[in-house]
Amino acid sequence: MNKVAFITGAGGYLGSATAVTLAKQGIQVAVCDINAETVSETVKQIDKIGGVAKGYVLDVTESKDVDRVAEEIVQDFGRMDIMVHIAGGSARIAGKNAQYAPLVEQEDYIIDRVLKVNLYGAFYASRAAARIMIKQGEGGKIINFSSTVGLNGLAYSVDYAASKGGVISLTKALAKELGPYKINVNSVAPGVVCRPEVDTTTEQGKHYAYETNFLGEKCTAQDVANLVEFLVSDKSDFITGQTYVCDGGRSLSMKGTD
Ligand SMILES: NC(=O)c1ccc[n+]([C@@H]2O[C@H](COP(=O)([O-])OP(=O)(O)OC[C@H]3O[C@@H](n4cnc5c(N)ncnc54)[C@H](O)[C@@H]3O)[C@@H](O)[C@H]2O)c1
Repeated sequence: MNKVAFITGAGGYLGSATAVTLAKQGIQVAVCDINAETVSETVKQIDKIGGVAKGYVLDVTESKDVDRVAEEIVQDFGRMDIMVHIAGGSARIAGKNAQYAPLVEQEDYIIDRVLKVNLYGAFYASRAAARIMIKQGEGGKIINFSSTVGLNGLAYSVDYAASKGGVISLTKALAKELGPYKINVNSVAPGVVCRPEVDTTTEQGKHYAYETNFLGEKCTAQDVANLVEFLVSDKSDFITGQTYVCDGGRSLSMKGTD
């Protein structure tokens, strides 16, 4: 029996890589995002490699929308075994004019949106998945995306840091609630992931890609997707309530995320 994964943010950089990586493992993927165009792109990528995927457009800040899509996934695939909440981002997620700013200057709508997508989204997607998994009675895996910023903090991104810190606390508490149902709840905390559009031939790009970690390597979406692949697999059956950092040791720096 092939497992079914509900993935939010699956149209984005880390989300699409994760969706394709899980599809390669034979997992059937419900590709969910607010952006209909990128949803179809990810579905196409999975079709191309012979995987099984279906796209759904949802806004993770609307609990009714999340519940509706979760139910549609069960109707379409017959079950749900995995939920990965990847949708998220810092200030810019609130719109193209939204800026990073000191908290004393930050605007309400930016704080609201950042907390809603990153943290409320994790609440709604985890709750919808847990209800289905409990009813199914066969356990499951819930993964929410945090960030090293949620562990260490980041100036001018207090909203983002708090939302990702909240994801870590949600992970610990929910793991305790869902343990009796054999549902594992974990969180993934990437550091600096180098997007393809970063020009690594410039000094600034090179520094960003290679010198912001102790391995001197570029972190790509695949590095993060590999961690998710492990956490949703049977190999992580005894791991719950944990946050896994994928940052090439960056957060070991005395200055933290400088
Ligand atoms: N890229 C990094 O360096 C990095 C580092 C640490 C943590 N993270 C976390 O990883 C996750 C993915 O990051 P990414 O780099 O792939 O970003 P991305 O912008 O490429 O992807 C985020 C996706 O979330 C979707 N989204 C935004 N608002 C939504 C909403 N309300 N409902 C549903 N979908 C919504 C976007 O459309 C987008 O496809 C985020 O949670 C981010 O905070 C990223």
